[in-house]
Amino acid sequence: MIVAIDGPAGSGKSTVARALAARLGFRYLDTGAMYRCVALAAIERWGAEGVAGRLAPPLDGAEIADLAAGLQIELDEGSVKLNGQAVERQIRTPEVSEAASAVAAVADVRSALVAMQRALVADGDWVAEGRDVGTVVAPDADLKVFLVADPAERARRRAAELGADARTVLAEQAIRDARDSEREHSPLVAAPDAVTIDTTGLTIEQVVEQIAGLACDRAGAGGGDSGP
Ligand code: DC
Repeated sequence: MIVAIDGPAGSGKSTVARALAARLGFRYLDTGAMYRCVALAAIERWGAEGVAGRLAPPLDGAEIADLAAGLQIELDEGSVKLNGQAVERQIRTPEVSEAASAVAAVADVRSALVAMQRALVADGDWVAEGRDVGTVVAPDADLKVFLVADPAERARRRAAELGADARTVLAEQAIRDARDSEREHSPLVAAPDAVTIDTTGLTIEQVVEQIAGLACDRAGAGGGDSGP
């Protein structure tokens, strides 16, 4: 069974997806971590300005896409390895967040990563989270959830996580939201058959319970080989 969880940064996606996977005994795939790995590798190779220059309009991300196709990315229950090196902390900096959103707009980067993601979720039970899991990576997912939350609340959550200023996070978030939603390739949109949940004012536990309930219903309705 595949549960796809998509939504913008700060919607509670990662925390909810991880907790839900633990609750259901499913494996967890953080597709955003893969875009972050590409961004980190690109910054290590060319520096942040060099990356920005390679992604300036008119967008031609060929060099970044070549780099992405050659990377070895290993994800295992929260541990992230890039070419054999543990990079969980390095991929969460504001610089990498910004570059990840930019590299994610390159069509050939997306197709390289989507192929890796599809291969991963081909077997077993998964909770996979990102922006295009329900629309592109796993359009046949048994359950698709689209999480949303008030932008100010999302910025407050992210700021608390990062120990950063909420107003700065809100401004940067607006830029990334616009880019993620307006890009030509696989923009952030809810799949037509996704269940949208507004997490503003809800606890993680409440959201997890709600989705676990939906997953049980789908499994009961014959939505997978092994239900939760
Ligand atoms: O979920 P996150 O913040 O770790 O994602 C980092 C960036 O990668 C974000 O700007 C959007 C992009 N992304 C994407 O385009 N498609 C995905 N499936 C996951 C993330």
